[in-house]
Amino acid sequence: MGVHVTTSEEPTAHARLVDLHSHVLPGVDDGARDVDEALRMLRVAEEDGIATIAATPHADSVTPQQILDGVAELNRLAADAGLRIRVVPGSEVRIAADLPARAADGRLVTLADTPYLLLELSLWGDWPPFLLEAIYSCQVVGLWPILAHAERYPAVQRDPGRVLPLVERGVLVQVNADSLFGRNGRKAQWAAEELIRSRAAHLIASDAHRSDSRPPRVRAALERAAAVAGEEYATWMAQAAVDVLRGAPVTPPQPEPPRRRRRFRWLFR
Ligand SMILES: [Fe+2]
Repeated sequence: MGVHVTTSEEPTAHARLVDLHSHVLPGVDDGARDVDEALRMLRVAEEDGIATIAATPHADSVTPQQILDGVAELNRLAADAGLRIRVVPGSEVRIAADLPARAADGRLVTLADTPYLLLELSLWGDWPPFLLEAIYSCQVVGLWPILAHAERYPAVQRDPGRVLPLVERGVLVQVNADSLFGRNGRKAQWAAEELIRSRAAHLIASDAHRSDSRPPRVRAALERAAAVAGEEYATWMAQAAVDVLRGAPVTPPQPEPPRRRRRFRWLFR
């Protein structure tokens, strides 16, 4: 089984994957603690076949200039260390009503200077009633939202179909690679698989925080996606990440309605 990517900004013989979500920028959030850890993470990513990784620190803990300067410095250090991986800037932004104003003031760092913006919700709160409105207000100022780690939200774990109104509005849905292996719990694993199986998830990224416990790897997860939704769709997902990085529009296939999680499964045995 293999996942193939047909084009890349910087094709190399062995490394063509893109990781759109990571906390590899050192010392700015709960990700890499220092430069050594960041370089270890980049080495892991390169070994996984990742050619380009987006540094997406939590936007509330860092300024846009810190992200841009940090990425430039990390690329310099990676090149000095002999690594052949490119880091591009981004951020992970908590969805809020003031995003259009922040975009207008240049206070948002989009993925690789494209219109794509990685948006997250609280992992603990309810599904926000203003979500669609907030998404729309981002879109009207030219942002293309990506919903980060959709499978981790309790509302989506109960009903993965919660993402469909967003998908219908053109939002791309990202799942975390490690969720597919149960590292965020069984509910997240089930939701990640169901989102992919129903083609309501479009991107797999690592959301890496460390080189060991939450590493920047996506290849095994794409192979898992191939097992769940077929090799053709997994290849489409890998290609979608490349297209996001290029700032190209991504047109997902029509999703099937995802199943709801059956509670009290034992009753039906
Ligand atoms: Fe993250």
